[in-house]
Amino acid sequence: MKAKLEEIRLAAEAQLAEPSADLEAIRIKYLGKKGELTAVLRGMGALTPEERPIVGAVANEVRAFIENAIAVKVEEQKKGALLDKLKAERIDITMPGDKIIAGRRHPLAQVRREMEDIFIGMGFSVVEGPEVEYDYYNFQALNIPENHPARDTQDTFYITDNILLRSQTSPVQVRTMEKQKPPIRVISPGRVYRSDAVDATHSPLFHQLEGLVVDKGITMGDLKGMLETFAKTMFGESTKIRFRPHHFPFTEPSAEVDVSCFVCGGKGCRLCKNEGWMEILGAGMVHPNVLRGCNIDPEEYSGFAFGMGIERIVMTKYNIDDMRLLYENDMRFLGQF
Ligand code: PHE
Repeated sequence: MKAKLEEIRLAAEAQLAEPSADLEAIRIKYLGKKGELTAVLRGMGALTPEERPIVGAVANEVRAFIENAIAVKVEEQKKGALLDKLKAERIDITMPGDKIIAGRRHPLAQVRREMEDIFIGMGFSVVEGPEVEYDYYNFQALNIPENHPARDTQDTFYITDNILLRSQTSPVQVRTMEKQKPPIRVISPGRVYRSDAVDATHSPLFHQLEGLVVDKGITMGDLKGMLETFAKTMFGESTKIRFRPHHFPFTEPSAEVDVSCFVCGGKGCRLCKNEGWMEILGAGMVHPNVLRGCNIDPEEYSGFAFGMGIERIVMTKYNIDDMRLLYENDMRFLGQF
């Protein structure tokens, strides 16, 4: 029987030495109710009274040995699991990190903000108007009655007969004058729409920035000085501006305004197509009919307005020759600004 107990001890020891030993299974196999050691103890009744204490002592020793060996293994396995976990979770701080691609403002938004800052610096506030607009605000109140030829150059998208996508930011002039009495000094940037086919210089959706100043004694000289300050801040201190007579139904007199080419300084180069000048906006003195329509007395007040395409300014400033680049969202292009 002692030999049997020794055999059990050796067998248990061997099994526990296996690295992936199932400790609970081993415990049940030897020490459980139907375990091998338990079976030996049950058979002790067959021993002589002299043998019994001796075999009993050995049996207890074997039991203690197995219990202890299991306890040691449990600790070992726990530690091993922790080490494995630590190893798996280790961070190699010397590895190159994942590159985070930081976004940035679109050049259209950058330039719009730059323009806003310049005008805010001159005392303007920023106002907004709806993109889905009434025919009244987009045309009629701007001195463009039905069948006026100016409607042809600003053909747009109609929602109903008298609701459309605004073709210019000028309706915000009217909305502002209806709400606010002079002195008025506002700019209004935003999206505008025209039924133009897409090409290098046209898009059915583009952006404008409108300006409006109404007060007592406002003259064309104020318009000129203000636009000159804008142009110098936007394109450089040596920039000159030039007014060319033009026609807009809602301003009188009206002008198209050019800036001297900031690349060649006016001598003529590739950027300005040898003109020396680049057109950037339309402007003029607010037409008396427009003022009257907003209940502002043209005998008492006068004002000027201007409107410019933000795309045109971006393309001029950065020498971009194809407007479509601004809408394609190609990071290789946008990342350059
Ligand atoms: N709204 C005009 C356009 O889109 C520009 C303009 C604005 C002209 C204000 C004069 C005064 O062409």
